[in-house]
Amino acid sequence: MTNVKSLFVTKAPVVSAGVAYVVGVTTKNSKPALASTIIETASIANLDLALVGAKSTLEHTARVPGANGSVFLLIGIGDEEIDAEALRRLAGAATRALPDFKDITLGLPVSNAGEALAVLEGALIGNYEFISFKGSKKQPRLLSTVTVASAFKPTDSAVKESLVIADAIRSIRDLGNTPPNDMYPQTLATAFQKVAKGSGVTIEVWDEKRLIAENMAGILAVGKGSSRPPRLIKIEYKPRSAKKQLALVGKGITFDTGGLTLKPGTGMIGMKYDMTGAATIGQAVLAIAALALPIHVTGYLCVAENMVSGTAQRPTDVIRYRNGKTVEVTNTDAEGRLVLADGLILASEQKPDLIVDVATLTGGARIALGVRYTGLMGNDFGVETLKKAAEASGELVWHMPLPAELRTLLNSETADLINSKLGDPTGSMLVGGHFLKEFVASKSPKDKTQIAWAHLDIAGPANNEVAPYGYLSKGATGVMLRTLVETAKALV
Ligand code: BES
Ligand code: ZN
Ligand code: ZN
Repeated sequence: MTNVKSLFVTKAPVVSAGVAYVVGVTTKNSKPALASTIIETASIANLDLALVGAKSTLEHTARVPGANGSVFLLIGIGDEEIDAEALRRLAGAATRALPDFKDITLGLPVSNAGEALAVLEGALIGNYEFISFKGSKKQPRLLSTVTVASAFKPTDSAVKESLVIADAIRSIRDLGNTPPNDMYPQTLATAFQKVAKGSGVTIEVWDEKRLIAENMAGILAVGKGSSRPPRLIKIEYKPRSAKKQLALVGKGITFDTGGLTLKPGTGMIGMKYDMTGAATIGQAVLAIAALALPIHVTGYLCVAENMVSGTAQRPTDVIRYRNGKTVEVTNTDAEGRLVLADGLILASEQKPDLIVDVATLTGGARIALGVRYTGLMGNDFGVETLKKAAEASGELVWHMPLPAELRTLLNSETADLINSKLGDPTGSMLVGGHFLKEFVASKSPKDKTQIAWAHLDIAGPANNEVAPYGYLSKGATGVMLRTLVETAKALV
């Protein structure tokens, strides 16, 4: 658990030295003005906010001295209606702007307990920096107490949920940000084995031998170019009270060179983040367990390093999957779908109520949707469930189609499917979705309808390459963790 203490106060706190008080700035009579807050602002009431550099511009910050040696952080909250997600971002931006404070009190304008909670969440996930590789001179962030000051007090169980979620997001970021010389299939497995201890989940790590025995053909094919062998990590939470089953599948490419279909140097730079899908679903299972939700959740982390070597798979190699399907590998850089196919086959075998896969699958997702939206594809129930869950959590997803005519782009002369036509970027994100769909089984031999399934392409938002904003620093973001937890809540 985070070592930051969190408090909620519903009466104006006594303004004191060494504490930063966060208050919103909006516009009144075309001038910057303080937004409503329960914090005592008498000491700064006479300031000309424009002259001290305060602006209503979203996330703009200015520091001014307050009563008793305190500091006020005046943060622009814009001039539009703000919801829980806007508050989460503002609280994150405020916390980021205060790395030198141990004690922060946020008095943003909230209108219910859920919004007060969003302020806490934003502060906790905004207070993140990855400094493990920075050397000892780098000063870590000092935050040790966050106080949310508003008229509303969330329940203890709601607060616990926020703490669990913030911790899970921070863990995903740590895993994603770790450089690929330290983060390879076995180290990812070891990291999860460590945190699984005593958490109420069971974890199995399938090594090369087991992968062969189980015919995890895609994971083996992608992993065979690396000196660091692939793994399948199965993390399961099965409470006695569970009636529904959720299966999660994650892309865990610890580094994606493209394989023999080699990426250019510039295209390889973000590829340590190609395992964030797996990190996200692993942390989602742990979070759902920590919240004791009455649902059976199984995570399949499909982990390999996609390297170039004499043992690497070749373009036009054919993979024979455990379910009998064959795939001609025309492009070794479309490796995510090859490993996910194994995970989807395993997930299908347990006949769950819903399968969700999370993957940094295609550069096409970034071209189509930019870097803030997750591409959502799937069948009806899957898409509807994930849309609602994303909306409840405040995360951005966009439903993309799986047009029938694009399926023909995967036809192979030799095998059942090719994995991608080299040099044809047509609807790349959607073709990726089509490929995965082929590996989601039907409900039963009698009921040919497909198991409910959703695919989340996080190639855009998985890592933040631009300047920090809201509760995001640079690097891995932890996107979709909140949506997955909401999905589990919606299913029970
Ligand atoms: N890991 C990449 C996708 C990616 C690209 C994620 C950029 C984040 C940023 C994936 O394995 C890949 O290389 N996909 C190919 C698919 C294509 C060959 C169909 C791509 O997007 O070019
Ligand atoms: Zn690739
Ligand atoms: Zn990849």
